[in-house]
Amino acid sequence: MAKLDILIAPDPVLKKKAKPVGVVDGEVVRLMDDMLETMYAAPGIGLAAPQVGILSRILVVDVAGRDEPAQPIRMANPEILWQSDERETREEGCLSLPEQFAEVTRPAAVQVRYQDETGTVRELRADGLLATCVQHEIDHLDGVLFTDHISLLKRNIIMRKLAKWKKAKAA
Ligand code: NI
Repeated sequence: MAKLDILIAPDPVLKKKAKPVGVVDGEVVRLMDDMLETMYAAPGIGLAAPQVGILSRILVVDVAGRDEPAQPIRMANPEILWQSDERETREEGCLSLPEQFAEVTRPAAVQVRYQDETGTVRELRADGLLATCVQHEIDHLDGVLFTDHISLLKRNIIMRKLAKWKKAKAA
């Protein structure tokens, strides 16, 4: 496995729509595993392929608590089949927007269809943190960041802070 570089916003790749995966082959599985390694090292609870510069519809998530065994989920071509009318507001962060957080309101539960690392089509009913995380990562596949769900004012504040963070890091 190998750790990958994570793109930091603003980056044009993060705003692009990712292409469907044709076949879940060894190369796709290797990418999923490298993304998991990168996500755990960050540390984070989700990562989408565009965040490592690859415009493929692939994501990984693991919302297990610190003291729980790892529960990695690898998804290719995830699609939201159903979302609840009930909505939930949760603070979100993103490995492409380090140290930035904002409250985002999304459907509280979703049903997702995807292909796992063996290419098998599966469905997942997610609620709570997992529902938020999966929706956040699927957004990445469509070039959408959590900052696209908040007010322009809040978004501008975050982007300014992020520019400062980038400058400090480069110095
Ligand atoms: Ni993110």
